[in-house]
Amino acid sequence: MKTASPAPDDLARSGSLEELYRLLTPMHVGAGWNKPTPSLWDEPRKTFVPAHWRYDQAHAALDAAGRLINTELAERRNLILYNPVPGNDYATTRTLLAAYQMILPGEQARSHRHTPNALRLIVDAEPGAYTIVDGEKIPMDPGDVLLTPNWSWHGHGNEGKAPAFWIDFLDTPLIHALEPMFFEPHPAGYEPVARTADISPMRFAWKDTLRRLDESAPDTAGPYGTQIELGEPAMRTIALHMMRLAPGVPTALHRTTANNIYAVARGSGTSTIDGESFAWSRGDVVAVPAWRPHGHRADDDAVLLRVSDEALLGPLALLRQERF
Ligand SMILES: [Fe+2]
Repeated sequence: MKTASPAPDDLARSGSLEELYRLLTPMHVGAGWNKPTPSLWDEPRKTFVPAHWRYDQAHAALDAAGRLINTELAERRNLILYNPVPGNDYATTRTLLAAYQMILPGEQARSHRHTPNALRLIVDAEPGAYTIVDGEKIPMDPGDVLLTPNWSWHGHGNEGKAPAFWIDFLDTPLIHALEPMFFEPHPAGYEPVARTADISPMRFAWKDTLRRLDESAPDTAGPYGTQIELGEPAMRTIALHMMRLAPGVPTALHRTTANNIYAVARGSGTSTIDGESFAWSRGDVVAVPAWRPHGHRADDDAVLLRVSDEALLGPLALLRQERF
């Protein structure tokens, strides 16, 4: 942008506010006192909305996609869960994206790396489904959470007999806002396997999650039931928690400046978000944007994965929480 024409003398001689505004406009300068919309407000606005996506529908759509498109054409066969607010076709909440993905038996999804952090919760898979992270081949079993942090190579494959379904979570909306996006396909296409590992810092195995939940005390008056954190935190922008809900016991209604996405690893129940009810079951995804009062009640012994931007907001002193 080049500096526009008004001379300092003309600006100084402005005889009215209207004349001053007229001279400021070609300079791309606005008078702060004359701004039509405020730039500060008293508490977080309701921009994104609470939303729910069902696994039975996603499963059926991915079955169709499995017939209609292969992993040669679609590097990732995934379904983006975009928040239904005007102008948005991507983000699930302000900072986070959730997507269902499926890979057929015998298929491989090419390796790549990117600056957005990513992770996945495995919903349905038989032995043989795997991911390769920086050369390490790691199994993907139902209930497992696998990490592919910022700039780590990752690709997926399925040597099993059944399609593998999972839910991806990424901080891409955050990276879109901040701009530091980099992406690179792996030079070999499919990254060679350097080693195979059941135990990896990139994998939170379901059996370990259940053991840790068994060993943890419930917080019956709290908003998260029995909760454990995966990693400390798992990734720098994304916090991961597993929550176990006792049947019929409501969690405390609360709101937080963090954006939360809940994915159902086991069981069924209902979440009440800002007065609206969402009945969920295994494999479903529920988005709770920032500052929306919400609580959960399980029908049975349910386990939820809670994916949030707490890890980002906490160190920036932007995390505020309130219970009702
Ligand atoms: Fe990726």
